[in-house]
Amino acid sequence: MNQLHKSPFRIYEISFNFCTSFFFCLLLLSAQAVAGGGGGGHSWDGIVVTQGNYQALQAIKHELIDFTGVLRTWNDSSTTSVCSGGWAGIKCLRGQVVAIQLPWKGLGGTISEKIGQLQSLRKLSLHDNVLAGSVPRSLGYLKNLHGVYLFNNRLSGSVPASLGNCPLLQNLDLSNNQLSGIIPATLAESTRLYRLNLSFNSLSGPLPVTLARSQTLTFLDLGHNNLSGSIPDFAVNGSHPLKKLNLDHNRFSGAVPLSLCKQSLLEEVSLSHNQLFGSIPTECGALLHLQSLDLSYNSINGTIPDAIDRLHNLTMLNLKRNKINGPIPERIGNITGITQLDLSENNLTGLIPPSLVNLANLTSFNVSFNTLSGPVPPILSRKFNSSSFLGNIQLCGYSSSTPCPSPKPHHPLTPSPTSPQEPRKHHRKLSVKDIILIAIGALLAILLLLCCILLCCLIKKRAALKQKDGKDKITTEKTASATGAATSGGGGEMGGKLVHFDGPFVFTADDLLCATAEIMGKSTYGTAYKATLEDGNEVAVKRLREKTTKGVKEFEAEVTALGKIRHPNLLALRAYYLGPKGEKLLVFDYMSKGSLSAFLHSRGPETLIPWQTRIQIAKGISRGLAHLHKNENTIHENLTSSNILLDEKTNPHIADYGLSRLMTAAAATNVIATAGTLGYRAPEFSKIKNASTKTDVYSLGIIMLELLTGKSPGEPTNGMDLPQWVASIVKEEWTNEVFDLELMRETQTVGDELLNTLKLALHCVDPSPAARPEAVQVVEQLEEIRAEVEATTVGSGGDGGKDEEGV
Ligand SMILES: *[C@@H]1O[C@H](CO)[C@@H](O)[C@H](O)[C@H]1NC(C)=O
Ligand SMILES: *[C@@H]1O[C@H](CO)[C@@H](O)[C@H](O)[C@H]1NC(C)=O
Ligand SMILES: *[C@@H]1O[C@H](CO)[C@@H](O)[C@H](O)[C@H]1NC(C)=O
Ligand SMILES: *[C@@H]1O[C@H](CO)[C@@H](O)[C@H](O)[C@H]1NC(C)=O
Ligand SMILES: *[C@@H]1O[C@H](CO)[C@@H](O)[C@H](O)[C@H]1NC(C)=O
Ligand SMILES: *[C@@H]1O[C@H](CO)[C@@H](O)[C@H](O)[C@H]1NC(C)=O
Ligand SMILES: *[C@@H]1O[C@H](CO)[C@@H](O)[C@H](O)[C@H]1NC(C)=O
Ligand SMILES: *[C@@H]1O[C@H](CO)[C@@H](O)[C@H](O)[C@H]1NC(C)=O
Ligand SMILES: *[C@@H]1O[C@H](CO)[C@@H](O)[C@H](O)[C@H]1NC(C)=O
Ligand SMILES: *[C@@H]1O[C@H](CO)[C@@H](O)[C@H](O)[C@H]1NC(C)=O
Ligand SMILES: *[C@@H]1O[C@H](CO)[C@@H](O)[C@H](O)[C@H]1NC(C)=O
Repeated sequence: MNQLHKSPFRIYEISFNFCTSFFFCLLLLSAQAVAGGGGGGHSWDGIVVTQGNYQALQAIKHELIDFTGVLRTWNDSSTTSVCSGGWAGIKCLRGQVVAIQLPWKGLGGTISEKIGQLQSLRKLSLHDNVLAGSVPRSLGYLKNLHGVYLFNNRLSGSVPASLGNCPLLQNLDLSNNQLSGIIPATLAESTRLYRLNLSFNSLSGPLPVTLARSQTLTFLDLGHNNLSGSIPDFAVNGSHPLKKLNLDHNRFSGAVPLSLCKQSLLEEVSLSHNQLFGSIPTECGALLHLQSLDLSYNSINGTIPDAIDRLHNLTMLNLKRNKINGPIPERIGNITGITQLDLSENNLTGLIPPSLVNLANLTSFNVSFNTLSGPVPPILSRKFNSSSFLGNIQLCGYSSSTPCPSPKPHHPLTPSPTSPQEPRKHHRKLSVKDIILIAIGALLAILLLLCCILLCCLIKKRAALKQKDGKDKITTEKTASATGAATSGGGGEMGGKLVHFDGPFVFTADDLLCATAEIMGKSTYGTAYKATLEDGNEVAVKRLREKTTKGVKEFEAEVTALGKIRHPNLLALRAYYLGPKGEKLLVFDYMSKGSLSAFLHSRGPETLIPWQTRIQIAKGISRGLAHLHKNENTIHENLTSSNILLDEKTNPHIADYGLSRLMTAAAATNVIATAGTLGYRAPEFSKIKNASTKTDVYSLGIIMLELLTGKSPGEPTNGMDLPQWVASIVKEEWTNEVFDLELMRETQTVGDELLNTLKLALHCVDPSPAARPEAVQVVEQLEEIRAEVEATTVGSGGDGGKDEEGV
């Protein structure tokens, strides 16, 4: 038990006690499985590996070619080190190997058939190596096998039919190898099979009907093979989980099966680059979850079903290079979320329906090489260049060289019918353009007005100042009310008041009001500006919404308390200003690196954020929050990555804490009610509408998941929120896919840290508030994670393989 304290499993030892929900139990089970443990923390218990397993590993090593020396740890010195973390990539449970995880290790050679002797093996992960030879048939003996990840290698031969004997197999990914032969129909006998990826091989023959009928298969990817025959009927009864079907780049022929349209959970379908013909079944309108449909490069004929707009969640529709005729249905304009629409190289006729201008989010559009005619709606011709419209001889108005004939040929003598039509078109065109123009105009006008006001105020004050010739009067006026640390300097002829708290520099109200300001963002509390003072110093200014703040007296009491809070991870309030007309400004340190949200999610592809930086940020936030909870007795209420700000050294500073105290009770409730809509809000919020330290910890957990996954909680992933998404992946034992891709380069050194931080983050987002740790505990556990890893890398080697989590 003593050792437990230092074991990496401590976190879920704790969680286990609190385990109150189905969700978390699942997570726990899979976390154990992933780590190779079954007894919650008893994995590398140092139990000597069984003789049979030891010999099998020796044989496996013998057939591998170890270009990078990763298997040097697999030496003969002692059988005790195998299961105590001494052998790279090996996880054991009670002396039996349960996982082999050596991805990205440059391993060549072949995978020995002796692997079939590792009776307890649950996970085989050797993807992204240079393995040759065949996939061992003997894998079929492994009754516990859950996941096989051998993608991105050079394996050849066929897919072993014996894999169907593995009753627990959930994930089989052999993609991007050189496998040939047929897809064994027996695979469907693995009644848990959830994800099957055989794409990018040279498989031939038909798609077995047993797979199409599978009641468990959710992701099926057979793209880029040489499969042929017709697409078989899919199961049409029971619950059918199929969400993603990819059969692109094969030689399938025949019609799109009607039964496919009954797979009501389908989200993505790609059948492109095959030889399908027949028409698109109107029944496919029942695919209400469908987001992406790619039937391009086939020989599909018939018309586009008019009821296509039943697919109202569609974002991508690609019908390029088929033989579709008839008109483009007017109703496509109802699918407002569509972003990509490619209908090029068909035989579509008629007009481009004006309803397409409703597709505000359309970013990619192509109707080239059809038989379309008439004018292109001006909005479309402005948004897309001529390469979207080429090859339609009777289409006009999409470029300067294709003007529409202004007097209609049918009415050459009566200009009146055309002229009302022309202005009407213009009217329509203007209505949207106008909105934009008006909006821009209005914005400019407001900005101009603001500038004028600022300028006036500047001039007035300069004059006033000169007249008074000194500031004595102003400064002393109200200082008494401010507390010791605070000094108040004043400005404004009508009783404006500036109160300083301790800080690096002092400025006058005039300095502040006449600084050049640039809007940084708006929040529920007000608008934030970056202000550059005349002496070049930069501060952040928050202008609070006047109507929602408390009366002056209460406001000053609260703000004075806030101004005393000092912690390296809490954004310091340096001053406040009360304007003569009741305007309230708060002055904070300016953080040059902006918000964590922007730092994480709005960077170029070449900007990497190493794990060290991320964990430092997580620790900083936790410390700041712990200080807030413990020492200041303050709940943040709206912790998100947008109000974590980073200074030039990328240290995090929590902003916006305590601001609700400055608001009227009604406004504060309102702020809380709308807080966290982007996925930071704890689930119990919907019931009790009451923030607590535990709702803050939930938000903290989400931010930690954000740092780990690189995903924004705002972006829904298959309709799940971030914790659900992470849980769903961890549950399927491909934990590594959770982490931000760029962190995978570092798994060698920080694999344990990633996994342990993930566990902690999941602990923080436990649906049950009571199960979540306090912020102070989060700080402790984060420190421990680091300490632990340092201990293992420096010494003993008694704890945990380093690449813990290679999928
Ligand atoms: C076996 O590997 C361990 C760990 O890498 C190393 O400390 C030990 O010296 C090796 N023993 C032999 C005999 O190579
Ligand atoms: C299948 O594997 C390919 C190549 O490895 C990959 O690009 C694709 O995303 C995978 N598909 C699924 C459904 O996992
Ligand atoms: C695909 O299969 C056909 C026979 O079914 C064969 O002629 C062709 O060479 C194969 N193509 C590839 C790329 O393997
Ligand atoms: C579902 O359909 C299969 C054939 O596709 C059939 O064997 C099975 O009995 C059906 N199950 C139910 C519950 O209808
Ligand atoms: C459509 O998409 C939205 C947002 O992505 C989602 O909330 C909704 O559940 C989806 N509807 C269906 C039927 O899938
Ligand atoms: C589509 O093509 C198939 C065979 O090529 C033909 O039998 C069918 O009549 C065509 N359907 C339409 C609507 O043109
Ligand atoms: C879809 O669009 C058509 C014409 O563009 C319109 O008449 C119809 O009412 C719309 N249907 C729905 C359900 O919005
Ligand atoms: C269009 O895109 C914006 C931003 O991505 C999104 O907020 C909006 O909901 C989308 N509109 C539709 C109709 O999907
Ligand atoms: C396109 O459609 C028109 C009219 O429907 C027809 O006359 C023409 O033959 C079709 N062209 C092709 C290449 O199918
Ligand atoms: C037209 O737009 C596409 C992208 O939408 C771009 O790739 C292409 O270069 C553009 N062509 C011209 C001639 O501007
Ligand atoms: C539209 O499709 C045509 C024909 O395939 C192609 O030449 C053109 O580049 C495409 N344009 C865009 C913008 O994708």
